[in-house]
Amino acid sequence: MFPLTHVTRFVLFQFKIGLCQLSVTPDKDRNIAHARSAIQDAASKGAQLVLLPEIWNSPYSNDSFPVYAEDIDAGADASPSTAMLSELSRFLKITIVGGSIPELSGGRLYNTCCVFGTDGKLLAKHRKIHLFDIDIPGKITFIESKTLTAGETPTIVDTEVGRIGIGICYDIRFPELAMIYAARGAHLLCYPGAFNMTTGPLHWELLQRARATDNQLYVATCSPARDTGSGYVAWGHSTLVGPFGEVLATTEHDEAIIIAEIDYSILEQRRTNLPVTKQRRGDLYQVVDFQRLNSQ
Ligand SMILES: *[C@@H]1O[C@H](CO)[C@@H](O)[C@H](O)[C@H]1NC(C)=O
Ligand SMILES: *[C@@H]1O[C@H](CO)[C@@H](O)[C@H](O)[C@H]1NC(C)=O
Repeated sequence: MFPLTHVTRFVLFQFKIGLCQLSVTPDKDRNIAHARSAIQDAASKGAQLVLLPEIWNSPYSNDSFPVYAEDIDAGADASPSTAMLSELSRFLKITIVGGSIPELSGGRLYNTCCVFGTDGKLLAKHRKIHLFDIDIPGKITFIESKTLTAGETPTIVDTEVGRIGIGICYDIRFPELAMIYAARGAHLLCYPGAFNMTTGPLHWELLQRARATDNQLYVATCSPARDTGSGYVAWGHSTLVGPFGEVLATTEHDEAIIIAEIDYSILEQRRTNLPVTKQRRGDLYQVVDFQRLNSQ
């Protein structure tokens, strides 16, 4: 286990996180303005880190992605959604894990999360690694990989509010990803996600608590609010889970801004009391972090 001193000395150990469970409409300008006011609201309530939902500027549907997609690397004019996040993070001096938006890059579409530091700089960009393909005849068909391209790299980022590992929605189902983030010293995992009405009640909280318990760190999730009239109905229930697997704050399916306290000093305490990392049997099993291995 990496000691907490591993990260920059500017890290805040105790701070408030704001989870903005936003309603999303087909009106992109409205979605951006709406996210802006929610972030301002969260910051005014003391949040120093704000997390947004998966696909907050566009309906969650394969035919919307190309229409709402933005070329994030092409600058503010080409990406009004991330320009707003950058401007606000600088103005409010907060860190923003900007949920996700459809990204257009080199003729391909990705489901992408941007992380902005307190100076408004883009610190990291995570492209959803595991795409959600589901085809149950007569029930549901959602083949993300028909429209989207999968990201190729795990994303872990140092911010003023700790070392954060990023995953998007379906990425939360893969414990290996969370494990390599933990091995690289993550304090917190952020998963913007939109689970559906079947998998939501069954797995959403379970997966968050599992990732937090296995790795003894904080897990924060943020879903869009539920809209029963939309093509894809999201479960909602954005949540913060602590390093003992405990639900620290959550909500139902309506729009909400959750403000909750994070205290990284608890990580050391949990890891001392329950030293699973030291007791792992590396002689019997191992998870390989290929990105780190290849960069050595
Ligand atoms: C998009 O989804 C609709 C149904 O929701 C389906 O008919 C269509 O084939 C899909 N298009 C692509 C490119 O996957
Ligand atoms: C939600 O997705 C799961 C697959 O992950 C599928 O089995 C289920 O039918 C879907 N439920 C709804 C309500 O769309």
